[in-house]
Amino acid sequence: MIDVRVLPDREAVGVAAADLIDAAVIERGEQVLGLATGSSPGPAYAELIRRHAQDPARPYGSTHAFLLDEYVGLPPDHPERYARVIRREFTEAMGIDAGAVHAPDPDAPDLERACRDYDAAIAAAGGVGVQILGIGSDGHIAFNAPGTPFAEGTHVARLSSSTRRDNARFFDGDPERVPVSAVSQGIGTILRARALVVVAMGEAKAEIVARLLSSDPTEEMPASALHLHPDVTLLLDRPAARAADRS
Ligand code: F6R
Repeated sequence: MIDVRVLPDREAVGVAAADLIDAAVIERGEQVLGLATGSSPGPAYAELIRRHAQDPARPYGSTHAFLLDEYVGLPPDHPERYARVIRREFTEAMGIDAGAVHAPDPDAPDLERACRDYDAAIAAAGGVGVQILGIGSDGHIAFNAPGTPFAEGTHVARLSSSTRRDNARFFDGDPERVPVSAVSQGIGTILRARALVVVAMGEAKAEIVARLLSSDPTEEMPASALHLHPDVTLLLDRPAARAADRS
């Protein structure tokens, strides 16, 4: 069952997410972080960076990280390459070595093979100990759009037009500039992480959160796969929880 917690605001969501990630890394000794990009994890990353600055001896410097996804088609030095975003917004400040931060390789000549290699690399690292996730307004997790089989591993995913519209804010507001595809962990990959910390904030997420909470697991609603995982915490601010309150 999903453990749903409604917090007063974004900052409180960030603190609660950081507490769960700290519990995994510091108390349970997890060594492998699963990292999302986008806006939702921002307050959690900011809180973890704040704690790390106060106490640099916290054990994050020895962790490995695996990103959920990476756009296909952006040049390696593009500021929106997720490998660059995560370094800029989180891992560098946490003292996590660049070589310990792994992203799917969207430039590989054989993408299918790169996808298989990525899942194998996660497994070889011992599996993801704690995965942070956001939810797209169409219900996606990573870039698994509605209709994606739950069992799928890392694969090349097409971005829905709603996702390209949502992400246009990172591309000068122009959905046409958002890549049409990404290499994405599959739902099968995500469900193998030992703990999932899911974050949704703001009114724009209220409807999808309500649908998630009222839906049985169905591939038409990718985030509903979260109901199948034994250790999921969903952290919401009040606006994101609003529609769920009414259902
Ligand atoms: C990002 C990712 C996406 C986002 C989702 C929500 O790595 O995999 O699934 O988590 O699109 O995005 P935000 O948080 O920007 O609303």
